[in-house]
Order: sequence, then structure tokens, then C-alpha cells
Amino acid sequence: MIEPGELADRLSDIEPTAAADPGSIVVVHAPGRVNLIGEHTDYNEGYVLPIAIDRGIAIAFVPTQDRRVTLTLAATDETTSFDLDAIAPRRGHWIDYVAGTAWAMAEAGLGTQGFRGVLGSDLPQGAGLSSSAALELASALALSGGTAPTSDLMQLARIAQRAENGYVGVQSGLMDPFASAHGREGAALLLDCRSLEYRPVTLGLDDVALVVADSGSPRRLDRTAYNERRAQCEAAVAAIARTHPGVRSLRDVTPAMLADCAGSLEPALARRAQHVVEEDTRVLEAAAAMEAREHARVGELLLESHASLRDLYEVSSPELDALVDTAMAVDGVFGARLTGAGFGGCTVDLVRRDAIDRLSEAISTRYAAQTGLVPRMFEVLPSTGARRVDGWH
Ligand code: GLA
Repeated sequence: MIEPGELADRLSDIEPTAAADPGSIVVVHAPGRVNLIGEHTDYNEGYVLPIAIDRGIAIAFVPTQDRRVTLTLAATDETTSFDLDAIAPRRGHWIDYVAGTAWAMAEAGLGTQGFRGVLGSDLPQGAGLSSSAALELASALALSGGTAPTSDLMQLARIAQRAENGYVGVQSGLMDPFASAHGREGAALLLDCRSLEYRPVTLGLDDVALVVADSGSPRRLDRTAYNERRAQCEAAVAAIARTHPGVRSLRDVTPAMLADCAGSLEPALARRAQHVVEEDTRVLEAAAAMEAREHARVGELLLESHASLRDLYEVSSPELDALVDTAMAVDGVFGARLTGAGFGGCTVDLVRRDAIDRLSEAISTRYAAQTGLVPRMFEVLPSTGARRVDGWH
């Protein structure tokens, strides 16, 4: 957990106006997310089932009168700034997510204000736990003085997505900022990415736990490969629509239609489409099974999802496969799968509480010996969404 008071102290060390008036310091926090199931379905108008987690990004800041945003990383002391009235193109740097959010807010007609801040994170970066959306959401709150720039949280999520699509250059879907904005304690969020309707799915994590294992191998090639997957889905839709004119996205495609088009669809496109069509069904089934506390069934669905991401969507990695195999050899683990975009990053495991220590032991010995990498494992708790943090002064 990031200590708001410590971040505020760091700010006071470097910013005289914060030291002179500590009461003016505002702290905002936005969580990362773990997606339980529904991978690469969001940009295909399908279903996702993420949770916002008890780790994220916090910014302690004081608003400034000029139009400059200046931010220091608590971990390294690196300081970067930009001018809200002259936002330059992306630099390939973490500040892009802040500048991109300011850019998208302005595009949406929302006001922004300058601030001087310190950023703290307890989210492993580039590990597929959505540090980018967390940074965008925390930035949006800081850029509007500490409260959400709009009371419509879906609009807020869309602004963060727009920052990523239009400024950072990743064609990501809505899931990550949606989860970071809407997070609920104790629940996952079942989102229909077509209608944008969503509902909480209570998780009842008393005798079971959600455990994240970080493979220690950063995501590779993710931007290029991610955008390529998205383009392949669009190409599959265009090809299927030639036979089935009502089809607008993979959400409209049924297994029967896929079978119909099997002969005419390029094999790679057919594999991508099959993953998405089947994954959508798995999400709905997993949400129902989770609510019914049928953990063995949820576990099976997680494993099916992983296999599909490995074989059909082709976004797994040897390290992620090894993490899943290691976990599944442990008694008391119901299921495991890669979470997020893939190409490295983390897995999420559904585990009986009494098996957590065994799992930790297996991952830190077997996986490490197999790959030479240092994995990290931690339990995640479904937590509240982006907010101003009060009560720490
Ligand atoms: C990344 C993107 C999301 C989603 C996942 C894959 O996290 O940001 O929009 O597409 O990959 O499910």
C-alpha cells in the first residue's frame, strides 16, 4: 500500500508551497486491475470480468496557478514536466500517459489545471496489471484538482482509452480504465463492451484467494503485436460479413458462422475469431460459476481461456505457460491463466487459501529453476476505483 503521508512528505521536501501549506496537498489514487477472464474481447464488443486491485498509483500534489504539470517519481526522483497549453507529441516516456490524458480531457471539452506532484506506485510496471490506465485515471483526477473531471465514470474511462488510442498509440480497449474507474470492494465487474452495461459479481473470497504471479519477464513486442491482433479481428469480421452481412463485430459471430466460413477464412484469422467467440461464452459462464461458488468449474474455464490464448490467439509466452503448469501441479489450485494482453507479464490463479504457501513454494523453486527468472507472487483483493484519498492529513 502506498502511504499517502509519505508521498506528501516527499512533495513538501521539493515544493516550498506544499511545505508552507501542507493542508493544500491533495492525494489521489487509481488502482491497477486483474482480469479474471475475457481476454482480447473488449475491443470485439464482447464481455470482460476484471477486478480493480489493492495496488495502484497515487499522486500527491498541489494545484498551481500556471499551466504547467510537473511530476516527480518517488522511486527514482526523476522529474518531468509539460505545458498544458502546448502539449507536444508523445515522447515514448511515462509522462506520455499524463500528457495524453490532459490532451484527451481537452478534446472532450473538460478543463484542466496545472499541478506539482509526486507519483508513487506499488504496481509492477509493464506486468500487465494496467499501470497505464491507473496512471491515466490518477492523472485525470489530479488535472481537475482532485475530483473526477466528470461524474460519468464511463466517460472518464473513455477519456483514458482515448488518451491511449489517440496519443500513446496503443489501440487498447475499454476494460482497463473501466476497471480502474469503477472498482468495487469484494466484487469483480462483468462488463458488456457493446452496451456498456455492467454489474458487480460478488466473489466471496473467504476460503479461496486470487493470487497473481508475475513471471518476471516484461511484456515483449506488446504494442505492435497487440495492434496487429486487433487488426486481424477486424479483418476476420470483414471476411465473415461477406457471407453473413449482419455481422458488425466478433460479438455477432456464432460458432456455426465460424464453421461456415472455415474454408474461406485465412487460418490465422480463423484462430483469432474462434478464441474471441468462445471466450465470450466462457466469461458469462465463469461469472455465474463464481457467484455459485463453483470454484472447480471456474478453474476449468480459466485453464480453457489460457489454452485458447496460447494456441488460438497466440499471445502467451514460454514463461506464462510454465507459470500455469507449475501452479496446476499444486494441490488446491483450481485454475490459472495469463491476465492482460499477454506476451509476458502475469498470471492470475484461483487457489484454496490453504494452498497459497504450497503455490508460493512451487513457483519460487520450480519456476525459477526452469526459467532462471525471479517470479513474484501476491494475493490481490477486489478494491475500490479511482478516488481522492482523504483522512491522511
Ligand atoms: C490490454 C488492453 C485491454 C484488453 C487486454 C486484453 O490490457 O489494454 O483493453 O484488450 O489487453 O484483454
